[in-house]
Amino acid sequence: MWAQTATLPMNVILAPSQKALTPHLEIRGGRRLEGEIRVSGAKNSALVLMAACLLSSDDLKLRNMPALSDIQGMGEILESLGVTMNRGEGFVELNASGLNQSSPPYELVNGLRASFFCIGPLLARTGVARVPLPGGCQIGARPVVEHVKGLKALGAQVTIEHGVVSAVVPGRGHRLTGGKIHLDCPSVGATETLMMAAALADGETTIENAAQEPEVVDLAGLIIAMGGKVRGAGTPTITIVGMERLHGADYMVIPDRIEAGTLLLAGAITRSKLRITPLIPEHLGAVLSKLEEAGCTLESDGIGMTISADRVRAVDLRTQPFPGFPTDLQAPFMSLLATAEGTSVITEAIFENRLQHVAELQRMGAAIRTQGNTAFIEGVPFLSGAPVTGSDLRASAAMVLAGLAAEGTTLVQGLKHLDRGYDRLEEKLRSVGASIERHDVG
Ligand code: EPZ
Repeated sequence: MWAQTATLPMNVILAPSQKALTPHLEIRGGRRLEGEIRVSGAKNSALVLMAACLLSSDDLKLRNMPALSDIQGMGEILESLGVTMNRGEGFVELNASGLNQSSPPYELVNGLRASFFCIGPLLARTGVARVPLPGGCQIGARPVVEHVKGLKALGAQVTIEHGVVSAVVPGRGHRLTGGKIHLDCPSVGATETLMMAAALADGETTIENAAQEPEVVDLAGLIIAMGGKVRGAGTPTITIVGMERLHGADYMVIPDRIEAGTLLLAGAITRSKLRITPLIPEHLGAVLSKLEEAGCTLESDGIGMTISADRVRAVDLRTQPFPGFPTDLQAPFMSLLATAEGTSVITEAIFENRLQHVAELQRMGAAIRTQGNTAFIEGVPFLSGAPVTGSDLRASAAMVLAGLAAEGTTLVQGLKHLDRGYDRLEEKLRSVGASIERHDVG
């Protein structure tokens, strides 16, 4: 059936189940790619750096900002608290001198988990914060136990009622007090939330078993640029000396290592030669070594990295906190391994429900079976185009990669997920020769 479909105009109804196509990408696969793709600023850094504007009443300018719906969402949440925002091509200017609310609206928070991180700087700056629980999402329960435990360790009284986390700092001045925090798990969000809370606390705070992700280091860089004192970011122990106040800054967001990894995989899965830039190898160590283990050739030129691949071998991987293999590249990497020679084993050890892309890859002819949080991927000579849906951000990216390699046409739905974390992905892929079109129907 698919051979025929490739030549039919898009608005022809293909089969009953495809009548209600939502906005989707149409990808004609099997093409080699060639050239260079630029990586945008990091979503998972930009979001928390925006929240950090709450720590000061001065201007904060963030550069190298990606054009993503999540950034828009975080902007709306900050504006609901009284922050003024000015956005332009690649930058955001924020000012929280007019902070007049301590509680962002549920409907905004519910759509964007990272907004919960605002509880830290809000509490540190005003002594009171009421933030709706972000709740779970497609990939897992996503608790905030460590965030709350840490705020209590800094002297906050925290209650959770009716789905809202209410925190207040008792006593005169309502100022948090530095303290020792040991995280039960190296949560990225908890580490970042507590770093921001501690930045204005009275005294020194130590966070042990902290997350070591590059985005955590980027946040430390911003707090220091705002006049704060942070040591040890990027190691399991972070020390923050609280300041009376922080000033404004003009700061550049790091490149998005997850986008860079996804684009390297686009080169590998199409057996192409591609240069991805900027790319900081230390931010992707575990991923680069798995790509080399799979038979890809990687050349770093100090700014970017060139990948080339003729044959791809099976590899095993297990997701872990940084510097281990990032869970956010598990799904995209699985698409590659679905076309590798041999059988690979992937264990998702971070989130309890992050294998939903398996069923969609199976629709494209992938030979994958799962057991709990482990997937056994027997590589196949080729995937075949099909209508598929991304269930979350990284699953959507995995569908796009599979579509680039598949024979025939793949229709990828679930773009509202993709647009949360990938800045103009189809344009970037088209610029190196991919046949990929967005159809905003439905
Ligand atoms: C950040 O989420 C990223 N999001 C996620 O990226 C990423 O997958 C994750 O870190 C892990 O690297 C942003 O930075 C905005 P965690 P976060 O708290 O902070 C458990 C993407 O695709 N945990 O480090 O929410 C939790 O259940 C997104 O861009 C507790 O048990 O992740 C999970 O299993 C998805 N108790 C693990 O830790 C807690 O109190 C890691 O979660 C907190 C977390």
